[in-house]
Amino acid sequence: MEKKFFDKGFKLGILGGGQLGRMFIQEAINYNIHVSILDPASNAPCADSAHDFVIGDFNDFDTVLNFGRNMDVVTIEIEHVNVTALYELERLGVKVFPQPKVIELIQDKGLQKEFYQTNNIASSSYQLIDREVTADDLPIVQKLRKGGYDGRGVVVLKEENDLASSFKNAPTVLEKLVDIQKEISVIVARNEAGEIKTFPTVELEFNSEVNLVEFIFSPASVSEKVESEAQGLAKAIADKLDIVGLLAVEMFLTKTGKVLVNEIAPRTHNSGHQSIEGNITSQFEQHLRSIINLPLGDTSITQPSVMVNLLGEPNMSGSVIYEGIEELLATPGAYLHLYGKSSTKPFRKMGHFTVLNPQLNEAKIVARRLKNVVKVVA
Ligand SMILES: Nc1ncnc2c1ncn2[C@@H]1O[C@H](COP(=O)(O)OP(=O)(O)O)[C@@H](O)[C@H]1O
Ligand SMILES: [Mg+2]
Repeated sequence: MEKKFFDKGFKLGILGGGQLGRMFIQEAINYNIHVSILDPASNAPCADSAHDFVIGDFNDFDTVLNFGRNMDVVTIEIEHVNVTALYELERLGVKVFPQPKVIELIQDKGLQKEFYQTNNIASSSYQLIDREVTADDLPIVQKLRKGGYDGRGVVVLKEENDLASSFKNAPTVLEKLVDIQKEISVIVARNEAGEIKTFPTVELEFNSEVNLVEFIFSPASVSEKVESEAQGLAKAIADKLDIVGLLAVEMFLTKTGKVLVNEIAPRTHNSGHQSIEGNITSQFEQHLRSIINLPLGDTSITQPSVMVNLLGEPNMSGSVIYEGIEELLATPGAYLHLYGKSSTKPFRKMGHFTVLNPQLNEAKIVARRLKNVVKVVA
């Protein structure tokens, strides 16, 4: 008989031991689930919070196979993993969620774009290229098909001078430059029974210097029409992918009011961190429920919230010091999360804080003020 999550000996394995894994473990403890982590860094954020922490490369076939074969369920917190080993684990009867076929598709931004096209999911027009970008292509957004993360792997090329920073020796996607009004995101979960639930749409504000998310606003300030289009797109994608697990769907609201899918991530996501305090069920608990086939939780917002990423200050590297923490913690409705990374680097994600307030506008004012107070320095 298949083991239940509360049976003795049930083991859940995660490829990747960063902050996403760490926040997942915090929820898994509530369900008394044994979590094993595979990560190459001995000082990864999960190193001292996992039940079992295995040091190893999640891109290596044998390492992933040996790690996963003793698990009941294997999941990921980063999509750049050895998918061949995941297929093998699936064949051996281990439950791998999201399924290897979903991870494989999402690892390649080119295949993602083809998937949107085949399934009539609105997304910006594109070409897949192996050649260099030329002046005739401009303005354009160029993305590495594989391996990009947190803004690395994406360049916006507007004028000829920008061509110097284009990717030259790798297969890339050329995407039409979208005239963005807002970036929004919907997190959707689907369990093995086929139940699908979305979180209310959130709004993302980026640090334009490095293409990294700085603020999340929950809920998004968008019309009912945009809200329902965004929710519909997320559900359609989860359904068409047949995914088991959590999926973040990043979208653009264009200046002309269209909703276009930007990219998807088959895992917990930065655009869902505010759900820990701001929604009845957090994205981490929802992911857990979806991969062990439990009923999905209520995703309703309890209070509007703003999440702020704590990024390492530019030009500073070394042992981390957090400034302004006392003022943050003295603020009603403010919650702190530190990821346990001992050293900071420019723009490294070191933690986040969330501000809850019955009025989203109030939460924004407080969050922007605190953002200037709390600094990650060396
Ligand atoms: N077609 C586009 N038009 C305009 N801006 C874009 C486009 N594609 C990406 N961007 C900008 O670059 C950011 C990062 O791109 P994304 O594909 O989401 O890569 P990453 O994997 O780094 O998150 C987006 O959040 C958006 O701000
Ligand atoms: Mg993105």
